[in-house]
Amino acid sequence: MKISFPETAPDSPALVLFAGEDAALTPAAAEADRATGGQLGRAMKAAAFTGRKGALLELLAPAGLPAERLLLLGLGAPARADAHVFAELGGKLAEHLQLKADSATADLSGLSGLGLPVAEAAAHLALGAALRGWRHDRWKTTLKDHEKPKLAALAVAGAPGAQAAFAPLAQVRDGVFLTRTLVTEPANIIYPESFVEKVVAAASPLGLAVTILDEAEMARLGFGALLGVAQGSARPPRVIAMEWNGTGDEAATPLLLVGKGVTFDTGGISIKPAAGMEDMKWDMGGAAAVAGAMVALAGRKAKARVVGVCALVENMPDGKAQRPGDVVTTHSGQTVEVINTDAEGRLVLSDAMWWAQARWKPDVMLDFATLTGAIIISLGHDHAGMFANDDGLAAALTAAGEVSGDRLWRMPLGEKGSAQDKLIDSAIADMKNVGPREGGSITAAQFLQRFVADGVKWAHLDIAGVVWKAKAGATHDKGATGFGVRLIDRFVAATREG
Ligand code: BES
Ligand code: MN
Ligand code: ZN
Repeated sequence: MKISFPETAPDSPALVLFAGEDAALTPAAAEADRATGGQLGRAMKAAAFTGRKGALLELLAPAGLPAERLLLLGLGAPARADAHVFAELGGKLAEHLQLKADSATADLSGLSGLGLPVAEAAAHLALGAALRGWRHDRWKTTLKDHEKPKLAALAVAGAPGAQAAFAPLAQVRDGVFLTRTLVTEPANIIYPESFVEKVVAAASPLGLAVTILDEAEMARLGFGALLGVAQGSARPPRVIAMEWNGTGDEAATPLLLVGKGVTFDTGGISIKPAAGMEDMKWDMGGAAAVAGAMVALAGRKAKARVVGVCALVENMPDGKAQRPGDVVTTHSGQTVEVINTDAEGRLVLSDAMWWAQARWKPDVMLDFATLTGAIIISLGHDHAGMFANDDGLAAALTAAGEVSGDRLWRMPLGEKGSAQDKLIDSAIADMKNVGPREGGSITAAQFLQRFVADGVKWAHLDIAGVVWKAKAGATHDKGATGFGVRLIDRFVAATREG
């Protein structure tokens, strides 16, 4: 969707206007009401349209206007209309017009008294529309013309300064799109090597410094946990690290992001049931979020130093696959008894986290992982689970979650050596990769904590419930949400950029 911000509203087949609560028309909407000889006002009456937030009224073939349709969107109380409200309205217009109009013009002229500058309102309207309009139709070869999305251009008029306000959001949009594409493509298309190829193609032109570890290098480094998971797959594993430094200081302490990238999770020898196993193509959603966030941050030239690491493997059953009971030695030197080969994400992350901390010496590390089904039972699909070893970090992440819409809910984490931590002690090795059935998301976090270096502030985000949605939301279609990209973008803006 091509986005533009002209000064005055260009003619378009779809004109989008706004009204506040009590059906208060904006100046541009009042103008349209006059042009239609009061038709708009009569339609509002007939439809009992009050300007409630998110309400939508459509007028076809409005008299006296060049547009084929006029959309009136409700703002609710203008003073409470913030970035979320405008992104949701953008989503609303995209959802409604996607199959109906090839271009649209939204006119914010004369709008005042909003909860944010009108330039920001316009930018977030455009972002919401772009995000809601995204679809992945690559594999649909028989779509009829009327089934194909055609909304190719959106002009948001009457908001001086919106172009500049939108520039960084356009980069965030591109990051979200990359994440969604990686998540949506099936595992015969996205596997460790092809994930790396796609990410390098997006990252290199933006000036991200890329490091790739192949199997031989990981064997040399002693990545016993990650390689143990990978050994049942014909697809070789990869780790890709992307580094962005927008501080101008080569020695700046980085933020480290690590993502679980299991490009397909069959469970391995502890194989999963057949029903729903296709969902496990998106078990790389953490790695995809990290890649998308790095693209967004580099694209908008964030004034921060950030390193993003994606740990990529496929978890398959095979004659060569690891067995329940196997003991592996991690890159950290700690040993793990693999009780259940389906608890593979923590194994993969443990080596990548340890390696990246030693190499980049971050002060803060965030990991993103579709780690447990249990987090979906706990929190459902509206919040990711957050486990943090630092209250300040947890608060900053929660705040970034609210601002971005990628919402988080804090979960309990015991200190190293606590009773909760001891639940994963093993009789034969330093730890086992699963605890008791109860509190499965917590013991997974306890496992990861054993691979957090002293002094590093760390949060683990279990995103299993939020990466993929059965239903469309305000700013995403059904399917991949792109969760994490906007969260990281806002977290970096709030905590690492001046
Ligand atoms: N990738 C899964 C977690 C998952 C399940 C994500 C459902 C999204 C939807 C993870 O690797 C896994 O299999 N976890 C096990 C852990 C168990 C064996 C301790 C789980 O949650 O059942
Ligand atoms: Mn698994
Ligand atoms: Zn998994």
